[in-house]
Amino acid sequence: MIHFEILSIFPEMFVSPLDFSLLKKAQKKKLVKISLHDIRDWADDKHRMTDDAPYGGGCGMVMKVEPVEKALAELRKKRKTKPTVILMTPQGEVLNQKIAEELSAKKRIIIICGRYEGVDERIREHLVDREISIGDYILTGGEMAAMVLIDAVSRLIPDVLGNPQSAESESFSHDLLEYPQYTRPAQYKGWKVPDVLLSGHHADIELWRKTEALKKTYRRRPDLLQKVKLSAQDKKILDDAKLDEI
Ligand SMILES: C[S@@+](CC[C@H](N)C(=O)[O-])C[C@H]1O[C@@H](n2cnc3c(N)ncnc32)[C@H](O)[C@@H]1O
Repeated sequence: MIHFEILSIFPEMFVSPLDFSLLKKAQKKKLVKISLHDIRDWADDKHRMTDDAPYGGGCGMVMKVEPVEKALAELRKKRKTKPTVILMTPQGEVLNQKIAEELSAKKRIIIICGRYEGVDERIREHLVDREISIGDYILTGGEMAAMVLIDAVSRLIPDVLGNPQSAESESFSHDLLEYPQYTRPAQYKGWKVPDVLLSGHHADIELWRKTEALKKTYRRRPDLLQKVKLSAQDKKILDDAKLDEI
């Protein structure tokens, strides 16, 4: 079981997307637990302010360090399991399947969602274990980024997916994009499913899938191939794909 605790000033944003499909089932089966905390609950002043103007001037507001520090201190004390504290930020390491796999082995994850111009730098310096971005673009707040992270991590927890093999063959799990997938009907408007997939010959299907995954990765994400350990057979498949292009 993995326990995600989310620190946000808009915890209501999380209620519906996490309440459908696999994530709903995972929570029902107690494989995933999601707790929402409003950072304002740890703000001392009567207006429950969680942000203030930036020192040195400039536009926008910055999320204050005190409410976040107090929230983390209280949440840490509440449970014995040591949490991994993650700050969602466009300046963090970019989320990928490897990071999702690492995080799926954790028991407790606290996610801090920034807003406005971001968070006071001291939060980053003193309070978090990891900073994660979901890509090189700017969102309004960390809530949607946190949902992406929770989804990507949760589906890797054993028994969350109906068939654990689904995660093993998916894109990025072996630094390759996934092979093309088809389902019934075998023909639609003259668009045919490749014959090999209807042949029932498992070895041929395996080879076709490997070949297509390698070709697709080579054409769309050649950068991924730098990380893959290629067998002699893989190298031959790629050489043939390159020859096809000439
Ligand atoms: C408008 S952004 C602040 C961006 C900040 N001024 C900067 O330039 O780095 C507000 C909050 O949204 C979240 N956020 C925005 N883009 C994100 C991304 N690509 N990945 C993860 N979190 C993001 C972060 O929590 C951030 O503190």
